[in-house]
Amino acid sequence: MAAALVWQFFQANSLLLRTLDLSTGVGIGLAAMTLLLVNTSLVSLAIHLANGTPLREVWRKNFGWLTVSYFLLSALALLLARAYETPLLGGWGGWTVLFFLIPLYYSRFYWDEKVRLEQAFDATLEVLMHAFEAKEPETRLHSERVADIARDLARALYKDEAKAQDIYRAARLHDIGKIAIPEPLLLKPGNLTPAEYGLIQSHTTKGAELLSPARKVAFDPLVYNVLLYHHERWDGRGYPRGLAGHEIPEEARIVGLADAYEAMTAPRPYREAKTPEEALREIQELSGHQFDPRLVEAFTELWKENPIWRDRQAYLAAKEGSVSASTSSPHSSDSASPSPWEPGSRTSEG
Ligand SMILES: [Fe+2]
Repeated sequence: MAAALVWQFFQANSLLLRTLDLSTGVGIGLAAMTLLLVNTSLVSLAIHLANGTPLREVWRKNFGWLTVSYFLLSALALLLARAYETPLLGGWGGWTVLFFLIPLYYSRFYWDEKVRLEQAFDATLEVLMHAFEAKEPETRLHSERVADIARDLARALYKDEAKAQDIYRAARLHDIGKIAIPEPLLLKPGNLTPAEYGLIQSHTTKGAELLSPARKVAFDPLVYNVLLYHHERWDGRGYPRGLAGHEIPEEARIVGLADAYEAMTAPRPYREAKTPEEALREIQELSGHQFDPRLVEAFTELWKENPIWRDRQAYLAAKEGSVSASTSSPHSSDSASPSPWEPGSRTSEG
């Protein structure tokens, strides 16, 4: 209704730029924007009232992307309106509009199919994640906590919720390559031979190989970067490629830091869990060695806000019901964490 009024206004009042009549172009553009704003602002308001997220944030996240498509589609709306005014058959413009709508219907149909395919792919990933985490509750706790830390870090760095969610998903999968490592080796207590270390370390490349069939179809390179490079170190002494500094994709640096903090605060059969304060101190000491100094700064700021993931016990209690408290036992498996197998004692958890 409001959009129609805008359109009618510009039809009734011509907007001239010298000899050029802009009323049709400006009218259809503004009518499209009016339609978008009226539709989306009411829905945004409802979401804002329901969960308290700032109105601008709700609109930007959910509908911001629509602005361009509404604007571009306004030209199509004009075309259809003109088609309606130009009957090609039976003296009724509706036939002309229908003629134009056939290809539009097909493109919409194929778009829907594309979205469905992406949803199916996301669901497949979810299944993969569950299959990996179903091995033992500790694995799930580890990857959920790593993912929560990584998501908070990404939010703080990028102020981009979609990217933070992508990093969360990648972090949940970061150790998926361990599926390809023999179980007895993952559970082996005590020292490992160099060959065994090598095999454990191959979980990075094996993870990327595992998901490679999907790479060309639909997979964000971000996920591969996390799987492959989350054990690289800022000083270049990590694996699998020994990348250093900014050569390491940032998403992998984020997950690597989150992974190390989670591992440090988890108990091991050969040592007690570090307290959150001890773990933070160690992360800070390793700034510029194992970790990106900028990330350590952002991490420290987040840590001070006392997020739920800061204290492992509190995190465990919050997850109670889905993960048994017994999983924090010092005798629980180490397979959730990469650290005990690191050749250097400080490769991942310090
Ligand atoms: Fe790992």
